Formats: sequence, structure tokens, C-alpha cells
Amino acid sequence: MKFNLPALLRPRASEASGCPPKEKLPRHIAFIMDGNGRWAKRRGLPRSAGHAAGTEALREIIRTCSDIGIECMSIYAFSTENWERPQDEVEALMKLISRYFLSEIDELIEKNVHITILGDLTRFPQEQKNALTEAMRRTKANTGLKLNIALNYGGRAEILKAVREIAADCASGAQKPEEIGFDTVSAHMYTCGQPDVDLLVRTGGDERISNFLLWQTWYAELIFEPVYWPDYNKQKLFENLNEFARRDRRFGKVKP
Ligand code: IPE
Ligand code: IPE
Ligand code: MG
Repeated sequence: MKFNLPALLRPRASEASGCPPKEKLPRHIAFIMDGNGRWAKRRGLPRSAGHAAGTEALREIIRTCSDIGIECMSIYAFSTENWERPQDEVEALMKLISRYFLSEIDELIEKNVHITILGDLTRFPQEQKNALTEAMRRTKANTGLKLNIALNYGGRAEILKAVREIAADCASGAQKPEEIGFDTVSAHMYTCGQPDVDLLVRTGGDERISNFLLWQTWYAELIFEPVYWPDYNKQKLFENLNEFARRDRRFGKVKP
């Protein structure tokens, strides 16, 4: 029997546990944290138990992204369409969000994490609004990982907001229409001043964007990860980062 020695010595993707070198990491990584409900259903638990389990995975991923020196991390926590879910699930999610911030904020501050909320908070109950604005206020001066939390967020709503703001600037004379550039539009996004998304990971097996960061993901690498979000962990993240490091990004150009 013949053995292919180099192939045997090569680690399989699932065993490539190390983190790629810093220069091969995305500057901005975004996560669509999907599959909480199916994770719970598989265990005969209510969907809210899946969301609670998802916060454990989130803790590990934020910690890891901060430790390995990622510049920006965006997470999709609640979409503009998620209001259409059953009332009890929406309420459970709201409670979980404010409880999560109250319990995590000290560690996030200690880790020098800077929190930005992407989305329109006006529709949130007062208790959640307070927890979120307090989290932003207390981490404002931090210079480490920029953590963007998308809440009541929709990519189309964000683009529409930018269009309206720019139109208002044109109407007031503050902006000349012919001087509107891509950077003008970027500056009106919630992610103003941040690099575009380099890598978007969606867990849960579905292969779609679901209205997340439509402007910022224009040349992002996409990874659709089959595991449900509560089962996502540091090992999976490192596998995804290694996959990203192997990708050939051409941005429409031809490589010499
Ligand atoms: C993602 O998990 C979390 C939120 C949308 C808040 P889901 O709740 O969508 O879980 P699935 O996709 O139904 O399994
Ligand atoms: C996307 O997941 C939104 C979040 C993860 C917060 P959804 O479960 O809401 O998206 P669809 O319905 O599968 O497209
Ligand atoms: Mg889902």
C-alpha cells in the first residue's frame, strides 16, 4: 500500500487550530449569529433558551477577537425584520440584551473594547435604551476592538437614512450633489470611519445576507458555517480565519 506522506502530514481544516498571522487577519469581521432557535428545538427547548446559549458563544468570540487584535467586529443581534417574531420571543431577546450588557460591561471595559450600536434605538424599551447608551458612553474612550452591535438594524434602512441625510444637506446648501462621493455615503453609515467588512461569517447553514451591512460588505469574503451559533467557538473561528487567509482577493483586478 502506498502512502502520500505530504498529504498525511498536512493538517486537515478541522485540525488547523492556530490563528493566522496578524497581517493575514481581516481588519473588520462581521457575524450573522444565526441558528439559535434550531439549536434549542433540536434539544426540545424553547427558542429563548437558544438565544441564552448564544450569548455564551458570543462572549468567547468577542474575547478571542479582542485577544488576537482584530480591529472591528460587527454582530447582527436583532434585525428590523425580527420585530415580526412572536411577542414573547421579542421580549425574551430584549431582556437578554440588557442583561448581557450589564453582566459583560466590566470585562469589555477591562479589555479596552469600544462599543457602537448600529441601528435605530428609538423603538427599544427604555430599560434597554439605558443599558445600551450607558455601554456606549462607558466604552467611548477605549482604543481596542471596535465592537459594533447591530440592533433594530437593517442594511436598507441604513442606506435610506444616509440618502435622506445627504438629501437634507443638499437642500440646505451644505452639500453639492456633484461632490457626493462613496466616502460621503460611507460617512453617513453607522460604521462611519471604520474599514469596510473583509470577512462575513454566517452560522446556521443558510446562505444569505438577510439585510446585514449591505454597503460595507461590497467586497467582503463570505463564509457560511453550518454550525448553529451556540455551537460556534474559538476553534471554528480560527478555521474560518485560516480559510479567509487562503482566499485570493482581487477586487475586480487582475493579479500580475
Ligand atoms: C439568530 O437565531 C438570532 C436572532 C435572530 C436574534 P434565530 O433565532 O434566527 O435562530 P433560527 O435561525 O430560527 O434557528
Ligand atoms: C438574521 O437572522 C438576523 C440575525 C441574526 C439577528 P434571521 O434568522 O432573522 O434571518 P432569516 O430570516 O433566516 O433570513
Ligand atoms: Mg434565523
